Amino acid sequence: MKNYDKTPSFYNSEEVFNNFLRSTSYYTGIQECLINIVNLTKPKKIVELGSATGASTFLLAERYSGRGISIVGYDFRENIVEEARRLNKFKNVSFACKDMVEFAKEPTDADFVFMLYSFHHIVDPLENKIQFLKNLYKNMKKGAYVCVLETFIPENVKLSDKEKIKEFWKLRSEEAYASTFWAALKYKDLTKENIKTAEKIASFSEKNEHTCGPLVAKRENEYLVQRSWLKEKGKKAGFKVLLDQPINAIGEGVVLLQK
Ligand SMILES: C[S@@+](CC[C@H](N)C(=O)[O-])C[C@H]1O[C@@H](n2cnc3c(N)ncnc32)[C@H](O)[C@@H]1O
Repeated sequence: MKNYDKTPSFYNSEEVFNNFLRSTSYYTGIQECLINIVNLTKPKKIVELGSATGASTFLLAERYSGRGISIVGYDFRENIVEEARRLNKFKNVSFACKDMVEFAKEPTDADFVFMLYSFHHIVDPLENKIQFLKNLYKNMKKGAYVCVLETFIPENVKLSDKEKIKEFWKLRSEEAYASTFWAALKYKDLTKENIKTAEKIASFSEKNEHTCGPLVAKRENEYLVQRSWLKEKGKKAGFKVLLDQPINAIGEGVVLLQK
């Protein structure tokens, strides 16, 4: 089992990724949204920040082969970058080890920078996220996009309301079981063994969300914000806000900014 431990992420092993993240309806839903937005914006030079094992980068490379795009994925965990490189079969895709906070401080010729489940990893205080947005704005080309695909805290829940956040994550946890159970059974035969496996994967997923709730509430390793917060800070940094939409009813959403 490949291990990406000692990380500020639930994405800490190949097993966790394949059994949990990859199978949830919210991960596949958020990836579909990314595919859609890339189709709408038609970038050539794409950068993914927090690319982990490269699953979303590979998906884009596959869907948009023949469009002359290039993609560079950055992650600050060396061992996960090595794994992404090992899995890479695309000539137009590469990976490098870099902290996204440092990436933002340097000029980039990318015309589309995206973060899928990684923006919330910019550690508190929130000023760090604000500075990151300001740096990105300063160092990106005019017309370039920043796309943040994330789990957001619901608008009616205050960042400081720990109990409400935990309550919301109970719902996410139930959804994680249900959606993952069905995702795990997709295209399978109706055997007792397959049902058992789907139940096991769904329970794993449910448990992960259950663990995540208190961490989000305590702001420990999971520094989530609301979409309206990002929209406002993005605007203050100088960006135009092109999209600010939910992807589902349990927190996933997207904010698309343009310089
Ligand atoms: C949930 S995973 C991202 C999943 C991936 N984007 C995908 O689509 O499959 C979050 C990743 O962000 C990375 N990360 C967290 N903080 C980072 C930082 N400051 N700079 C670069 N990568 C970071 C973690 O190492 C982790 O691999």
